Amino acid sequence: MMKVCVIGTGYVGLTTGTVLAEFGHDVYCVDKDQHKIQLLIRGHIPIYEPGLEEMVKQNKQLGKLHFSNNLQEALQICSVIFITVGTPPLADGRPNLTYLKRVIEEISSNLTSHKTIIIKSTVPPGTNEWVATSLLEKGIEPTLFDVVSNPEFLREGSAVWDMLHPDKIVIGIKRPEPIKTMQALYRNVNASFIITSLTGAEMIKYASNAFLATKISFMNEMSRICDAYNVDIKEVALGLGTDPRIGPLFLNAGLGYGGSCFPKDLQALEQAALQKNITPEILLAVQKVNDTQIDFYFAKLNEALTSLKNKKITVWGLAFKPETDDTRYSRALHFIEKLVGAGAEVHAYDPIVQLDTSPPICHTMIYESIENSDALIVATEWDEFKKIDWKKVKDLMKGSIVVDGRNFLDPQLLKRYHLNYVGVARP
Ligand code: UDX
Repeated sequence: MMKVCVIGTGYVGLTTGTVLAEFGHDVYCVDKDQHKIQLLIRGHIPIYEPGLEEMVKQNKQLGKLHFSNNLQEALQICSVIFITVGTPPLADGRPNLTYLKRVIEEISSNLTSHKTIIIKSTVPPGTNEWVATSLLEKGIEPTLFDVVSNPEFLREGSAVWDMLHPDKIVIGIKRPEPIKTMQALYRNVNASFIITSLTGAEMIKYASNAFLATKISFMNEMSRICDAYNVDIKEVALGLGTDPRIGPLFLNAGLGYGGSCFPKDLQALEQAALQKNITPEILLAVQKVNDTQIDFYFAKLNEALTSLKNKKITVWGLAFKPETDDTRYSRALHFIEKLVGAGAEVHAYDPIVQLDTSPPICHTMIYESIENSDALIVATEWDEFKKIDWKKVKDLMKGSIVVDGRNFLDPQLLKRYHLNYVGVARP
C-alpha cells in the first residue's frame, strides 16, 4: 500500500484516484476547484461515469480516498504524485500546459523528500523531459525525484472498467528506479508493462489515439465511396474486421468522432510534427474527413426534405457518444449548428444531457421531442433509441424521415413502419 496524491479530479484524475484506492492504496485527490472538492466530500460525482460514484463512496467509507484543496499538505503525506490536470487545446491546436506548469511549480517548492512524479495528463512529446529539466534548473537535487510518463487509455463511459482491465501499462522513465514503484502501484492489474523513454510514452499515447481516429476516418471515407456504389458499409466493415491485422473494432462509419480526446490529440500531434518541419499528411486527412463527414448526412437530409427552412427537426443524442454527459466536440451539436443555420426549428433529446442554451429546444421526454417533426436525426447509439417504439414514432411525427447518424438502426424495421430510413452507404 502506498500513499498517493492525485492532482486534478476530472474524469481521468477521479477515476485514477478511485481505482488506486480500490487497489488498496491511500489516495489523496486534490483539486484547486473548492466547489468540486466540496461536492466530492459530500459524495457527489461531478461527472457521469458508470460505476464511479459507488466506488468513490465505498473507498471514502473505508478511509482510503480523501478529497482536499490543500496540495501542500498532500505533497508532505504522499511519496507518489499523479498529475492529471487538463491540457485543453489552445487556438493554434497546441495543448495549454498552464495548469501543468503551475502544478510543477507548486511541487518544486514542496520537495523535501523523494517523490515519484507521474504525469498522466496527455502532453506533447518532449513535455516530460521539460518537467525533469525544469526541476533540476530550480535547483532540486536529482536524488529527490523521478519523473515518470504514464499515459491513460481510458474511454469515457467505460473509464472505470478500462482502468481495472487495461491491455497495457505504458511507463516512460529516465532511469530504472521508478519501475518498482509503478509495479507496486499497479500490482492488482494483469497487464504487460511497456517500458520506454519519457517521450516514447507520450508518443505512444498520441499515436494510439491518432490511429484509432484514422480507422474511423478511413471507414467514413469508405462510406462515401460505398454510398456512390450502393454498397452497405456495415457489410464492408464486417468483411474487414475478420482480418486479425485489422480487427473488428473502430470500424463504425457515421457522423465522425468527437469527445475531449481525439480532436485535441490529433491537433496536438499535428502541431508537434509541424514544429519539427514535418507535414503530417495522414493526420491532416483524418481531421479533414472528420470535419466534412456531417456534410454528407446534411446533404441527404436536404435532398429528402427539399428545404430545411422552417422545418421541425429533432436530434436524439447530444453527447459525443452514449453513456456519457460529455458534449465536447460532439458531432450532434455540430450538426445542430448547421440545421439552425439552414433555418430549421431544432428540438433535441438526450438520456442524460440537458443543454441550458436554445436552440436546440431540449426535451426531457423522448416521444415529446418528435411531435410533429418533419425529420428525426439519431446522432448517438444509445440503446434507448434502438429499442424505441417505431410505430409510436411514426404516429407522432409529421414527416417520416429518420437519419441514422451511427448506422445502428435497422432499415428494414423502420421501413415496416413506413419510416424513410436515411443513411450514408446504407442501401
Ligand atoms: C478515446 C480512446 O478510445 C481512449 O483510448 C483514449 O484514452 C481517449 O480517447 P473516448 O474519446 O472517451 O476515448 O471515446 P471513444 O469510445 O474512443 O470514441 C471517440 C469518438 O469516436 C466518439 O465520438 C465515437 O462516436 C467515435 N467512434 C468510435 C466512431 O465514430 N466510430 C467508431 O468505430 C468508434
